[in-house]
This record gives sequence, C-alpha cells and structure tokens, in this order.
Amino acid sequence: MDLIATCALGLEELLEAELAALGVGETTRHRGAIGFRGGWTDVWRTNWRLRTANRVLVTLDSWPAEDGDALAAGAGKLVDQRTRAWDGLDCATLFQPHRTLALRASASASQIRDVRWVTLRVKDGLVDAQRREYGRRSSIDKKSPDLALRVWLHRDQATLLLDTSGEPLDRRGYRVQTTEAPVRENIAAACVLASRWDGRGPVVDPMCGSGTLLAEAASFQLGRAAGAIRRGWSFQRLPNYDEKRFRAISEEPATPPEAIAPGSKLELYGIDAEDSAVEAARANLTEARLADFATLARGDAFDFEPPASPGLLMLNPPYGERLEGSPEQWKRLGDLMKQRYRGWRAVVLAGDTNRGKHIGLKPSSRLPVRNGPLDARILVFDLY
Ligand SMILES: C[S@@+](CC[C@H](N)C(=O)[O-])C[C@H]1O[C@@H](n2cnc3c(N)ncnc32)[C@H](O)[C@@H]1O
Repeated sequence: MDLIATCALGLEELLEAELAALGVGETTRHRGAIGFRGGWTDVWRTNWRLRTANRVLVTLDSWPAEDGDALAAGAGKLVDQRTRAWDGLDCATLFQPHRTLALRASASASQIRDVRWVTLRVKDGLVDAQRREYGRRSSIDKKSPDLALRVWLHRDQATLLLDTSGEPLDRRGYRVQTTEAPVRENIAAACVLASRWDGRGPVVDPMCGSGTLLAEAASFQLGRAAGAIRRGWSFQRLPNYDEKRFRAISEEPATPPEAIAPGSKLELYGIDAEDSAVEAARANLTEARLADFATLARGDAFDFEPPASPGLLMLNPPYGERLEGSPEQWKRLGDLMKQRYRGWRAVVLAGDTNRGKHIGLKPSSRLPVRNGPLDARILVFDLY
C-alpha cells in the first residue's frame, strides 16, 4: 500500500528518520508529508509510535478530475471494483453501506477551487455507487465516522485517502489543562529529537507552561510510545483490525535502545512564573503518569539553580507573536544559559525568526518549523 505520514512544515527530516528507525524502507519526502510503502501492521505501528507525525493515511485511489462529474465518476468507479484490495482489505468490505463515513477535502492549483464542491461530488460518487452495488448507502457522521476519508485535489488530479488516525496524533491525551501558547506535542517531541539528547542527566524547563516539553522528553527517555495513553485511532474501527497483533506491536520498545545511554535515570524539573501554569503542568504530568519523576514549582527562570550534573535544558520562552519580547530579554536568556548551564545541551523553541540570534550563542543546529499558525525555530546549543 502507498502510505503517507503528514507532519508540520519543517519536521519532514525528523519524521523520515523516525520512519527509518521503524524499519520502513524507501521514503519520499513531500512538503509536510512523507510517503512510504507498507501494510496494515505498518499503519498500526506508525500510529502508535511516531512522535512527530500528524496523521497516517492510506492512498486508496487517484484519478484525473477537472470537474465535478469527473470527481464523482472516479469515486464511483472505485466502489464498483469490489475485489480491489489494500493489503488484504477489499473494497466491498471497506465500503459496506452500514459503515458511516466522513469526507474532508483540500484543493490546490485546480480548476475546482471550492472544497465543499469537491467533498460533495466525491461523496455523491461514493454513495451512488453503494446504492447501485448494495441497494443502500452509508450515512454521513462527521464527528465519529467508521471511515474517515480525505480527498486531495491537486493540479486537477484527485487522490482519495483513508485517514487511519482520526484525532491528530499530536493529541496524545495527557494534556488535560493548558496555559497560554502551549506548544503542540509533536513540535515538543521534535525539540527532543532535534536535540539528540541521549537520555542522560536531568531535564529542566524553567518556563514550563503546561509541561509539554518535559512530557515529551520523558516519553522518549522511558521508551514509551507516543500513543501510549491515547484513547484510540480510526484504524481500530476498520474491519481488519486485529487487537492481538496490535497489542504485540504496542509491546515493542518505542525508543531505539541504542538512543538512550545505559543507566540513565529520568529526572524532570519544571519552573514557571505563573501558579496556573505550574498547576497545569502538574495535572498534565500526572495524566501522563510522569508525576513521580517531576519536581515542579513556581519561580523565576532566572533565579532557578539547576542540579549540578548537566542534562537537557528545554526552553520555550514567551516571545511569540502574541507575547512579544525584546532583544534584551533574549540576551538575558543567553547569559543565563552560559552562566548556569555549562556542560548542558540546550534546545530552544524560538517563536520568531530573528530574535533568537540575540541569544549571543552559536546554535549547533537550527530547524525552521511551523508551530500552528506561527513560524518558529528549534535551536540546539552545546553549552561548554
Ligand atoms: C510559551 S509559554 C511555554 C509553553 C509550554 N512550552 C507549554 O507547552 O505549555 C512560556 C511560559 O513562560 C513563563 N514565563 C515567562 N517568563 C518567565 C520567567 N521569567 N520565569 C519563569 N517562567 C516564565 C510563562 O508564564 C509561560 O507559561
């Protein structure tokens, strides 16, 4: 099967490396997505494990579609091919009319621009063919469908995909309380992976907000899967879902053992100036079953004395679009890093392209990413 894992813009290289670590063969890099080939066990494993992905999709079909009729005809033709199969799951089983469906579309560089029209015509094609084939049609359930379908119309070529994830994969399920400007879980995971931290030493986030960076560092260090506490995925509602086989996948180690230094012990420190943030971090780390590893307190990042042994410093300062900061504050942060965190690895999620340079230290790597609606940079420093 042709599979696609989607991600935030900028995370393609990290996602590709994650897929390689999962044993996926050849990959193709797109903007905000990585294509690869695999079967249903790959679908289950990638949904369970990938830290930087948004969704995992199966390509069902692709056809030229310059107008609405062509969109509908292509979709109908697919349903008509009852015996066509995707790694053993055949079309007749997938499109049984008792199964509810939802469709979402996107359109770019095509004659049809209205995504509602794309959705409508593909849906028409699918359900009309169901009526022809089975005398009944699926009902639409936008909230909780059995089949979550996506149509991408690009350059007048329609691609129909099956979304196997459902809720985006960054919704890990532990964030029960948020604060202002929380970082998405998959961007936080990208910070951990980009830092190339080997699990040694304490993790300190002195502006921890709701604790996302700490939670993602901990999940990596403990070898827990990204999906370990998530409630479910769309693939579990497909007729070929095999719980026993999925359980076996979920017992595999989720961080390559060689990525973590032997004997390393998890220790998390979270500080924030706001009581409400400390409270949110505590609630979230508790939900993530990480509270026993964490010391959380209200305080000023600039007063906090880190533990003596060096580890990973993680920082997501409030200098984004909404919480505008000044070059002086970045310089102050750079001074703090140099003075108190000598010997540490530091990863900074800087919300703005230019201000990070006022930190006054040369990053060992710099990764531009899209953090929701904002441009951001993941900067990694070795603090000698
Ligand atoms: C962008 S938010 C961090 C969000 C966090 N990464 C998350 O996922 O929720 C920045 C945080 O820094 C805190 N903060 C700002 N100045 C601080 C200071 N001097 N000391 C400690 N915390 C500070 C704010 O209260 C805010 O919670």
